[in-house]
Amino acid sequence: MSGSPPASARHVARHVAIVMDGNGRWASAQGLPKVAGHRAGALAAKNLIPRAKELGIKTLTLFTFSKENWGRNPQEVRDILSLILDEIQSSESELQRQEVRLKIIGALDDFPSDIAEQVRLLEAKSAHYNGLTMIFALSYGARQDITQAVSAIGHKIANGQIDPDDLDEALIAEHLWTAGLPTPELFIRTSGELRLSNFLLWEIAYTELYFTTCLWPDFTPDHLNAALDSFANRKRYFGKSRHV
Ligand code: FPP
Repeated sequence: MSGSPPASARHVARHVAIVMDGNGRWASAQGLPKVAGHRAGALAAKNLIPRAKELGIKTLTLFTFSKENWGRNPQEVRDILSLILDEIQSSESELQRQEVRLKIIGALDDFPSDIAEQVRLLEAKSAHYNGLTMIFALSYGARQDITQAVSAIGHKIANGQIDPDDLDEALIAEHLWTAGLPTPELFIRTSGELRLSNFLLWEIAYTELYFTTCLWPDFTPDHLNAALDSFANRKRYFGKSRHV
């Protein structure tokens, strides 16, 4: 712990969204193959769960596989997919023990059907847990999400289900993959890159941003705590005057 006050005494970000970046650089710094970096990255994600709950986080969204990641070297894509499948197969009892609800955002149908089915099954089985909601962004891209939402709304307008005059922000939000989920209060990106990379663009309009040079596999619960400290010290105005 960094000596910060307990969760109850500081303003906690209830929903934290993370771009887990730097697995490749971590692996090459250790002289290991890239897959070892992704494996260490998956472990780093798992290690956050108990502390995230203790710190008062209710929702953790992890950018696990982007739409753009399909363009990586085919062997790396296979390695990441098999890692995701391994994690899913091995995590059921752990999710149950920690009361973690698994939720997926993204185009899950892009995945091989065995992976997609297992993910959906685990999502359904864990739907009633309320210890922590872990959202995995899989084959996710924010622009793709906004596009599919606009398309769905367009179809509903065309067949008379929606009156175009009723179109508002809430209606758009209802058609996104993130429908019904709270918006993130804190966005974290590791590895020193200062980009959003097509992650949750609609949802993070008023989210606090936190960047760290720590490579994802080295990101520990103490790093998460430091990010929450930074969040707790920020004043948020949501575009309103800071002079009240
Ligand atoms: C970015 O590092 C990371 C990814 C593209 C994949 C993230 C996937 C995992 C952490 C493994 C699966 C996780 C779970 C929770 C099942 P990078 O490869 O872009 O790193 P680099 O920029 O240093 O090359």
